[in-house]
Amino acid sequence: MPIFPSSFEWGCATAAFQIEGGGSEGGKLPSIWDTFCAQPGRIKDGSNGLIACDHFHRFREDVALMADLGLRHYRFSIAWTRVVDEQGRPNPAGLDFYRQLLGELHKRGITPNATLFHWDLPAHLPGGWLNRDTAHHFAEYTQIVARELGDLLPRVATLNEPWCSAFLGHDIGVFAPGVQDRPSSLLAAHHLMLAHGLGVQAWRSVRRDTQLGIVLNPELCDPASDAPVDVAAAHMAELERNDVFLNPLFNREWPAEMLKQMGPLAEQRLTSDAAICAQPLDFIGLNYYTRSIAQAPLDADEKRRGYRLVPPDPHRPDLTHIGWEIYPKGLDRVVRNLLAQWPLPPIWITENGAADNTPLVDAACNDALRLHYLQLHLAQLADMVTSGLDIRGYYVWSLLDNFEWAHGYSQRFGIVHVDYQTQQRTPKASARWLQQLISFPQT
Ligand code: FCB
Repeated sequence: MPIFPSSFEWGCATAAFQIEGGGSEGGKLPSIWDTFCAQPGRIKDGSNGLIACDHFHRFREDVALMADLGLRHYRFSIAWTRVVDEQGRPNPAGLDFYRQLLGELHKRGITPNATLFHWDLPAHLPGGWLNRDTAHHFAEYTQIVARELGDLLPRVATLNEPWCSAFLGHDIGVFAPGVQDRPSSLLAAHHLMLAHGLGVQAWRSVRRDTQLGIVLNPELCDPASDAPVDVAAAHMAELERNDVFLNPLFNREWPAEMLKQMGPLAEQRLTSDAAICAQPLDFIGLNYYTRSIAQAPLDADEKRRGYRLVPPDPHRPDLTHIGWEIYPKGLDRVVRNLLAQWPLPPIWITENGAADNTPLVDAACNDALRLHYLQLHLAQLADMVTSGLDIRGYYVWSLLDNFEWAHGYSQRFGIVHVDYQTQQRTPKASARWLQQLISFPQT
């Protein structure tokens, strides 16, 4: 068993749209993921998040599961569409759900870590992230959460993986809202970082005793070969993944290559935005799953981006069921790579996990692939912590099998199996291993 300091924090992570369900209860409004799911062909299995894991009704059972597994920390997201109405006023019924959830966590000795935006943007906001006003609406929503729930929330992240909202949502178009336009994706990225900065200001105008941060997914990108064109392509991918989100946090200008890709839209970034984005932070959350391999661009879209991603050969044995390479060394490489470039605050690994679609057999799920993945990554993490990197905790993705965005329910990331017909929860082998690891004597 890998050994961690006794102060190391162990938790699991989820996101509202992926587990809650309760799609139209208590005045919940539709999000852009609801409208995206309703468009034919967007989600692999044609599913949606209206019921999901029915966590909205079963949260007590789910919190009890966490407690049983020895998880003392829980990262979840608040659905903006549940807690604010169309006029931007607090929605008491939605806030009450989170108050009850937080009460239950408190009762079980589990410390919450809430993310304010995990992709489920209210559908009624005109233009979504392409409209600067959305950043201000986010700040108003943040202020409502700070006022209404802030006394129950010791640690809060503004955004989850803004790269996905910006680029999967507005360039590649496989995530809501499904736009495919390179300059727009960069404008969305800018507005997301502006929202982050305004959100931190808004929260701190209400309370100063909360640890505030942001959750990023700075993937590592290796070139497919030593050829200078491939090396340059990998560099472009890293600029998009890392510099676009980390530079604003430290009041650094975007790389010139990215500004150029925005064309005339770059004028919509105001000089005064830089100081707003660069709010001092108490922590940074890093999500790590795999690495990418890039080569020189071929088609027109790739040329606009400056790189082409090469998916791993699907016959390789070291892939998870979603097709992502198992590359634990990347966790160490990506953290060191970031620390060499940006003065990061203390780090939490806010997501890490694997798709392993092993079914239940005789009421048990032997998810050997996930177990293997977690063992490799936690051994890597233990070495990193021992070597002195300031990493304070780990949240496994995810507690439950859930709605995996464009993959629908076809990919299972939970350490707990969910039978979507009966909503029965069954801890898998990986959950039992993690339970043992957490209770293992630490240094
Ligand atoms: C991350 C997301 C999370 C989940 C995992 C598998 O990018 O933050 O919601 O879908 O991937």
